[in-house]
Amino acid sequence: MEKNQLMRINFSEISLKETLPDNLTVNDLLEIVQKDMSAWKELNAYYRCAMMEIETKFKVLNEQFSLRYDRNPIETIKARIKSPESIAEKLIKKKLPITYEAITENINDFAGLRIICSFPEDIYMLADCLLQQDDITLIKRKDYIKNPKPNGYRGLHLVVEVPIFLQNEKKPMKVEVQLRTIAMDFWASLEHKLRYKKNLNPTLSAELEEELKACSDEAAELDIRMQSIRKRIEAEAEGSEILV
Ligand code: GTP
Ligand code: MG
Repeated sequence: MEKNQLMRINFSEISLKETLPDNLTVNDLLEIVQKDMSAWKELNAYYRCAMMEIETKFKVLNEQFSLRYDRNPIETIKARIKSPESIAEKLIKKKLPITYEAITENINDFAGLRIICSFPEDIYMLADCLLQQDDITLIKRKDYIKNPKPNGYRGLHLVVEVPIFLQNEKKPMKVEVQLRTIAMDFWASLEHKLRYKKNLNPTLSAELEEELKACSDEAAELDIRMQSIRKRIEAEAEGSEILV
C-alpha cells in the first residue's frame, strides 16, 4: 500500500460499527478489522510511532544519566502493541461500541511500555524527567508503589499523550508506561501466571495468593535495602574522591 494513502485516513470519521449488539464476540471484531485492514494497520502504525517516541525518550534519559552518574537507571525496556483480540475483549468488557473513536478514547494501553529499573528511586526520577518534557501530557497516574494493590502488585503507571508528526499533521497518541523494579517485575510475572491459571484448586489458589502477598512485601523490603546499600557505596566513593 502507498504511504500517502495511509495518511489520508481520519480515524474520528471511521466507524467500525456504531452500536454494540449484546452478543458481539471477539471474532466479530476481527471480521470487521479484516474488512478494513488498511485502517487498522494505520492505527497500529500510529501507536507504534508513539511508543517509539516514548521509548527513545527513556533511552536518552538512560544515556544522560549514565554519562553524568556512571550508572544506568534502566535495566530493560519492553514494548508491546495490544492485539486486536485483546482490544476487542476490552471493548466488549467495557460495553463500548466497536468504533475507532471508542478505541482511541477509552483504550489507554493500545501501546504499552514497561520500564524495568534496579531501584525504586530511579522509577520516580525517570517518571519526573519524562513528565517535565514539554511535548508530554499526563493523562493518568497510578502509584501502586506507594499504594500497592491488595494482592501485592507494585508499580508506577502513567498514561501519557505524545504527539507524532505525520506528513501533514500532528497527532496526539496515548501510551501506557509501567515502571517497575526488577523485583516488582519478577513478582508480577509470577502473579500473572497464577491469575490466568484456570481450574486451580480453590484452597491452593487462596494459599498461593497469600504466599504471593508475603513475597511482594519481602521484595519491597529487599528493594529498599538494596537501594540503601547502593547509596552507602556511592557516599563512600564520593567521600574518598573528596579526600583524593
Ligand atoms: P485496565 O487496563 O482497563 O485494567 O485499566 P486500569 O486503569 O485498571 O489499569 P491499571 O493501571 O490498574 O493496570 C493496567 C496493567 O497493569 C495491567 O494490564 C497489567 O499489565 C498491570 N497490572 C495491574 N494490576 C496487576 C496485578 O494485580 N497483577 C499483575 N501481574 N499485573 C497487574
Ligand atoms: Mg485494570
